[in-house]
Formats: sequence, structure tokens, C-alpha cells
Amino acid sequence: MTGATILHLITMAVLIAAAASQAPPTKYINHTVGDNAGWFFNSTTNTTATNYSSWAGSQTFSLGDYLIFKTSSNQTVIQTYNLTTFRNCSIDDSFNNDTFVYNGGNTVFDQALTIIVPLTIQGPSYFFSDASDGIQCQHGLAFEINVNRGLGLPPSLNQPPPPTYREPPGPDSAYPPVTIPAGEEGTGNSGFKKGASVQVIACVCLFAFLAVNGGIF
Ligand SMILES: *[C@@H]1O[C@H](CO)[C@@H](O)[C@H](O)[C@H]1NC(C)=O
Ligand SMILES: *[C@@H]1O[C@H](CO)[C@@H](O)[C@H](O)[C@H]1NC(C)=O
Ligand SMILES: *[C@@H]1O[C@H](CO)[C@@H](O)[C@H](O)[C@H]1NC(C)=O
Ligand SMILES: *[C@@H]1O[C@H](CO)[C@@H](O)[C@H](O)[C@H]1NC(C)=O
Ligand SMILES: *[C@@H]1O[C@H](CO)[C@@H](O)[C@H](O)[C@H]1NC(C)=O
Ligand SMILES: *[C@@H]1O[C@H](CO)[C@@H](O)[C@H](O)[C@H]1NC(C)=O
Ligand SMILES: *[C@@H]1O[C@H](CO)[C@@H](O)[C@H](O)[C@H]1NC(C)=O
Ligand SMILES: *[C@@H]1O[C@H](CO)[C@@H](O)[C@H](O)[C@H]1NC(C)=O
Repeated sequence: MTGATILHLITMAVLIAAAASQAPPTKYINHTVGDNAGWFFNSTTNTTATNYSSWAGSQTFSLGDYLIFKTSSNQTVIQTYNLTTFRNCSIDDSFNNDTFVYNGGNTVFDQALTIIVPLTIQGPSYFFSDASDGIQCQHGLAFEINVNRGLGLPPSLNQPPPPTYREPPGPDSAYPPVTIPAGEEGTGNSGFKKGASVQVIACVCLFAFLAVNGGIF
């Protein structure tokens, strides 16, 4: 190898390394909320175990990441996309299409809990505990994040909810073909594509049936 070739190879390697270090995230991340402090509130002192706004500011969140709340039944985990609900520290009067309760109604105190929340919607998202009538949230058991597109949702989180169960048709029943409802627009989920191909097959079968019965030719 000549000196020029070696220099060329080294230059290539440096360029590839530089490109890799500037690349967007290449994997999904699990964020442990509050790191080692977990998700806790001390009711004696009215203080949180750490500053959750600062913690959130130290992270980069992307679609497909998970938030891991290491906590106990003394706290709750509420996720909302509604800023009014977040600022009010309460789920009273919230809508169940924009606000989600990950643990609530627990009647036993001090039970250790790990709550896992996948990030499935891009943009701002708000988290708080509504325990102690909002006192925990008012004293800082709350944070907001902004979810970037990153790698996009992985297939495991990109499935439409399963269709509602239907009794399979019996041998002599003549049900029309089932249309599988599409998921959210633009998510490219496989459920929609499968639904489309089922209909194509149904049309081909109907055409063949008509042809065999002499209806067309
Ligand atoms: C992140 O958490 C999810 C959900 O618990 C789990 O399936 C996945 O294996 C975790 N990934 C890593 C890298 O720990
Ligand atoms: C709450 O804070 C008080 C005063 O610092 C401390 O004595 C107590 O152990 C704390 N409680 C918990 C559950 O950490
Ligand atoms: C938490 O940190 C934020 C900055 O990230 C700061 O504005 C806020 O005052 C802190 N809260 C407390 C209770 O120290
Ligand atoms: C959990 O809440 C109960 C009831 O308010 C209280 O007695 C207990 O000390 C709390 N535990 C912690 C770890 O804060
Ligand atoms: C705010 O929360 C209180 C309870 O803490 C509730 O009565 C009120 O309706 C809520 N307001 C809104 C706008 O959600
Ligand atoms: C947020 O929730 C409040 C009730 O708490 C409701 O009045 C408001 O319309 C909601 N905002 C959006 C954008 O849905
Ligand atoms: C949530 O439901 C409320 C009341 O049914 C409706 O007004 C609002 O537009 C819905 N919000 C979204 C984001 O679908
Ligand atoms: C905690 O704060 C609430 C108001 O948010 C107050 O009513 C309560 O007395 C405080 N408790 C302590 C122990 O300071």
C-alpha cells in the first residue's frame, strides 16, 4: 500500500466516524424518570425526590421510547396532551381521549410499582401525579416533554387495536365480506393493508362465482 492510499483510508474512516456521531438516534431509549431518585413525593416536607423539570430537560425523547416510572402507590402517573388538565393538576373534567391514568384507585399505600409508558404521539406531552388532591403535582411532581419523530414508531407500537370479536360465520350463513377499519391516517399500519387485500380477494371470488354461473359470459 502506498502512503497516499493509507492516508485516503484514514480520511474515509474519520469522515464515517464524524457522520455517525452527528446522525439522529439509531435506537429507542428507555428513560427512567428522575434517574435513581425515581418518581416520589415526601408528604412530610412537601418536596419531590428530584427536580423533574430539570430531569426532563436533560433528556431527548423520541417516538418509540419508553418512560419508566419507579414509584409506589403513594403517587400516580397521569399522562395528558391537554395543557389545561396539566396546569390544573387534576383529571376532574378531563376527557378520556386526551388524558390517561396509568395507575389510580389503588387503596393500599406504599406498594412498590413500576409503570411503563410508551411514547406514541409526536409533540408535547405532560405527566403528573394527581395524588393528595393535586398537592404532589402543585409541588413539582409534574413535567412536560416534547417527543421528536426520531426513528418513528417501531412495528410493535404501530399496530391498530384489534378489531372487536365477531362470531365466525357458520357453514350455511352468507355474511358480506368484513371491512377491517383503518387505523390512524398516515401511520402505514399493516392492518389497513391486510383489510384492502381481503376486499380484493373477495371481489375476485365474486367475479369467478358470477362467471361460473354463466351470469357474465
Ligand atoms: C425498554 O422497555 C421496554 C418495555 O418494558 C422493553 O420491552 C425493552 O426491552 C426495554 N429496552 C431496553 C433497551 O432496556
Ligand atoms: C421525608 O422527609 C423527612 C424530613 O427530611 C424524612 O425524615 C423522612 O424520612 C422522609 N420520608 C420519606 C418517605 O422519605
Ligand atoms: C427545577 O428546575 C427548573 C429548571 O430546570 C427551575 O426553573 C425550577 O425552579 C426548579 N424547581 C425547584 C423546586 O427547584
Ligand atoms: C405513603 O402514604 C401513607 C399515607 O398517606 C403514609 O403513611 C406513608 O408514610 C407514605 N409513604 C411514603 C414512602 O411516603
Ligand atoms: C380543575 O380541578 C378542579 C379540582 O381540583 C375541578 O373541580 C375543576 O373542574 C378543574 N377545572 C378544569 C378546567 O379542569
Ligand atoms: C382540555 O380539557 C378541558 C377540560 O379540562 C377542556 O375544556 C378543553 O376543551 C380541553 N382542550 C382541548 C384542546 O381539548
Ligand atoms: C375529545 O372528546 C371531546 C368530548 O367528547 C371532544 O370535544 C374533543 O374534540 C375530543 N378531542 C380529540 C382530540 O379527539
Ligand atoms: C403542603 O402544601 C399544601 C398546599 O399545597 C399545604 O396545604 C400543606 O399544609 C403542606 N404540607 C406541609 C407538611 O407543609
